[in-house]
Amino acid sequence: MSTLKAVRGTRDLLPPETALWNRIEATARAVFARYNFGEIRTPVFEDTALFARGVGEETDIVSKEMYTWEDGERFNELRMIVDWESRNRADDPTYVQAGRAHVERLSPLLTLLNAIGVQREVTWGVALSGQQLPGSAPEFVCFRPRISGEAISALLKARELAKSDPASHLRQTHVRLRLVVPTNAADNRWIERHDVTIEWFEGNFFDSAQSLTLRPENTAGVVRAYIENKLGEAGQLQKLYYIGPQFRRERPQKGRYRQFYQIGAEVIGPPSAGSESPVRDAEVLEMLATLLDELGITGWTLHLNSVGSAADRARYNDALRAALVPVVGKMCVDCQRRAVTNPLRVLDCKVPEDQPIIDTLPVIADSLDEESKKHFAAVTAALDAASVPYTRNHRLVRGLDYYTRTTFEFIHGGLGAQNALLGGGRYDGLSEMLGGPRAPGIGFAMGEDRLVLTLLAQLDQKAAPPQVADAFIAPLGEGLNAAALVLGRELRQAGLRIELGDGSFRLKKSFEAADKTARRIVILGEDELQSGILTVKTFATGIQTKVPRTELAVFLNQ
Ligand code: HAM
Repeated sequence: MSTLKAVRGTRDLLPPETALWNRIEATARAVFARYNFGEIRTPVFEDTALFARGVGEETDIVSKEMYTWEDGERFNELRMIVDWESRNRADDPTYVQAGRAHVERLSPLLTLLNAIGVQREVTWGVALSGQQLPGSAPEFVCFRPRISGEAISALLKARELAKSDPASHLRQTHVRLRLVVPTNAADNRWIERHDVTIEWFEGNFFDSAQSLTLRPENTAGVVRAYIENKLGEAGQLQKLYYIGPQFRRERPQKGRYRQFYQIGAEVIGPPSAGSESPVRDAEVLEMLATLLDELGITGWTLHLNSVGSAADRARYNDALRAALVPVVGKMCVDCQRRAVTNPLRVLDCKVPEDQPIIDTLPVIADSLDEESKKHFAAVTAALDAASVPYTRNHRLVRGLDYYTRTTFEFIHGGLGAQNALLGGGRYDGLSEMLGGPRAPGIGFAMGEDRLVLTLLAQLDQKAAPPQVADAFIAPLGEGLNAAALVLGRELRQAGLRIELGDGSFRLKKSFEAADKTARRIVILGEDELQSGILTVKTFATGIQTKVPRTELAVFLNQ
C-alpha cells in the first residue's frame, strides 16, 4: 500500500523549528499589546460571497486560488419525484396512477429488493412509459442526485429480480431502466457502459446548499466580524490582530505554500474615531518597523505607495489603458490579456523584457486627487518624523480589490522570488462593500512562513537549534521508575525542563541517550533514593557532583 503524504503545498511544522514559530508569535503578541491591540479569531471558513465581494471577483485570489465547496447539500428526492411526475405526465393521469398501481402490485418484489438493501438507497417508481398501457414494457425509474455506479447496478439488479421473480407478472417482459438526475449531475463515464436511459432533469433539487471557502486572507473576515458584532457602535477605533492559517491554491515554491500562516492586524472604526487619519497609517507602519526589529529581522525595505480613491483608480485605469495601446503588442501574452481585463495588473509583470516598457507608463501618483495626495504626504511626513525609512514604489498596486490610498509591502532580499515579508494598506470602502456602516480601516498581514525562512537564513543554519532539557533522570532499574516520575514532577514544578528515562536502560545507554537530549544526567538508584543524595553529571565539563535532593532544583538551574 502506498503511504499517504501531506497534500502538495502543505507541510508539517516540527520541533525544534516550531520553537522559532512560537518565539515569533510571542514577540508579535507582546508588540501588539504595547500598541493596544486585542486578538480576534475568525472562522477558518466563510461564505464564499464574502471573498467574492470583499477581495474582488476579478482578482487572482478569488478567480483561481480559493478552496471552495458546496456545503450541507441535500438532495430532495421527493421534490424531484413530484416535479417529474407532474411535469412529464401531467397530461396523462393514467400514467401516474398506473405507475403507482404497479408499485403496489410489485410489493412482494419490493420486499425482496428491500431485503437485499436496495430499497433503502434507491427511490423506486415503476411507471409505464409514454402512450403504452398497463401490461406493456414497464419501466423502473430511479431518482438520484447524480449518476453513480451504485445507482446503475441497483437498477440492473432490480431488473434481474423482476424477471426471475415467479410471482411477478414482469417475468417474461422486457423491463426498461431509467435514471433521472438533475441537469448538472454530469458524469458520462457510466452512461456509455449500460443500457440505462439517463434523463437529465432541470430544476433545483438540492436544499440548504451553501458555498463555503477556506479563507485565503483574513481582512474580509475581520471586517465581516466587525459588522456582525456591531463593533462600530462603541464609537471607538477597533485595533484587532490575528494569527492563523490561510489557504491559496498557488503554485508551491520557496516561501509560497497552499496552507500558510499570517500574523496580521487591522485598525478599523467610524470616521469620528479618527480611522481615516494618516497618523493611523504611520502608526501601523512604525509598529511594523518595531516588530521586525524586535524579531531580529534585518535588511528589510518598506515600499510605499498610494492607490488613491476608487475614482482616482478609475482615472488611472483609463490612462494606463490608453498608454498601453501603442506598446502592448511588444509585451508578454499575460500583459496583453491584462491590458484589456485589468490594466493595473500590468504593473505586477516580472518578465525582464517588459520592464523598460512598464517604466514608461504613467504612474498612479499623477491620477490622485488633492485629498489623496494630502493624505499620502501626511503619512510620509509622520514616517520621516519617526525615522522609519521607506521607498516610494509607483508600481505597488497590490493584488486585492479593496485597497484605497496607502498601500505598502516590506520586502526582503533574502527571500528570492517571493520576497514580500508582509503586505497591507488602507481599505476605506470595504465595510460598505460588505453591507456594513462606513468604517475606514488600515491593516497588514505578515507571511509567518517567510519570517521563519528569513530568520533561519540569518541564523545561517537549516534548522533552529535543538531544544535541550535541563536534566535527564536515569532510574537504575524498573523498580525505580515510579520514584523517577516523582522526582521529575518535583523538578518540573520548580520550572525545569526534564527528560525522563526508564529502568530498562543500562547505565551506559542511559548516558548516551541523555547526552543527546539534556545538559545533565541525574542518577537515581536505591542508594540515592534512600540517602536523598543524588549523583549529577554535567556533560559539558564531565564533572560528577553529589547533590542533596532538597538542593537539586537550584543546582540544575545553574
Ligand atoms: P497579501 O499580500 O495577499 O495581503 O498577503 C500578505 C502576506 O502573506 C504576503 O506578503 C506574504 O508574506 C504572505 N503570503 C501570501 N500568500 C502566501 C503564500 N501562498 N505562502 C506563503 N506566504 C504567503 C493580504 O493577505 C491582506 N489581507 C493584508 C492586509 C491586511 N491588508 C489590509 N489588511
